Amino acid sequence: MVAKPIIIDCDPGADDAIALFLALAFPEQLHVLGVTTVAGNVPLSLTQKNARCLCELAGRDDVPVYAGCPRPLLRPLTTAEDVHGRTGLDGISLPEPQMPLQTQHAVDFLIETLLQATEAITLATLGPLTNIAVAIIKQPAICQHIQEIVMMGGAVTQGNITPSAEFNLYVDPHAAHVVATAGVPLTMMSLDLTHQAIATPERLNAIHAINSPISDAILGLLNHYGAYDMQRYGFAGSPLHDPCVIAYLLQPDLFTSRRAYVAIETSSELTMGRTVVDWWYVTNQQPNTNVVETIEAEAFYQLLTQAIANLSR
Ligand code: RIB
Ligand code: CA
Repeated sequence: MVAKPIIIDCDPGADDAIALFLALAFPEQLHVLGVTTVAGNVPLSLTQKNARCLCELAGRDDVPVYAGCPRPLLRPLTTAEDVHGRTGLDGISLPEPQMPLQTQHAVDFLIETLLQATEAITLATLGPLTNIAVAIIKQPAICQHIQEIVMMGGAVTQGNITPSAEFNLYVDPHAAHVVATAGVPLTMMSLDLTHQAIATPERLNAIHAINSPISDAILGLLNHYGAYDMQRYGFAGSPLHDPCVIAYLLQPDLFTSRRAYVAIETSSELTMGRTVVDWWYVTNQQPNTNVVETIEAEAFYQLLTQAIANLSR
């Protein structure tokens, strides 16, 4: 098996952290060419630092980390310290990163890497889509080198930052529109999907049993991050949004999906960032998105637990 080449674009972020661990734990399946960071959960100065800390904690300081866009295309930056804490990784305390931040801008890394690619590259997006949109605008030719964009984002029913919008797409709806209309294969993991992947006490117990710095870090993160979601939604634990993207790349058979035309609201403040899904072809628009609908949650947590064990050896 040849490892799938991927680039992870993220805004760490507690769930981004767990997604990075999941991706870095299976190098024979996923070749992480680089981690690009964007402003989102917390400002860029923290997301880029957090990404480096997390790569080091995973023993993968070989993976280059790039800083990208510090704000959305048009709107002012909205952050989520109420969910992820002031540092973006509240609940744990990691040492200052030793690995350097790459000097190349994330957008230029995306463009250069995609244009030079001999094999199409998959983009795993875990935050606002600003970096991806700027790269597509600056150099549209990269689209033919993108195997697929698998994004955590969108809300088919209920939003989380507003009643109708999910955070990533709310923060930069115009970037999401650029990506959704670029003609690149797009797979969407909305809140409707990720809210099926709850870190219940039983699932956390399996992670706790590993008893390593990585498992301790995950439990520390989820202890802080979970409080918000459990209070907000009454769930039995945190929904692990971003790791669903990586699990899809590792084991797509754990998921089911349906193709549909999806458009992003970029006008109304009431529904800004809403993903409007045309399930019944009433717009006569060709489907542009693979909308993921279900996940085998138990198998997902078994995969995650195996990943943590791999990183704990
Ligand atoms: O709405 C959840 C998404 O927004 C996740 O990616 C979380 O990390 C935040 O970026
Ligand atoms: Ca994220």
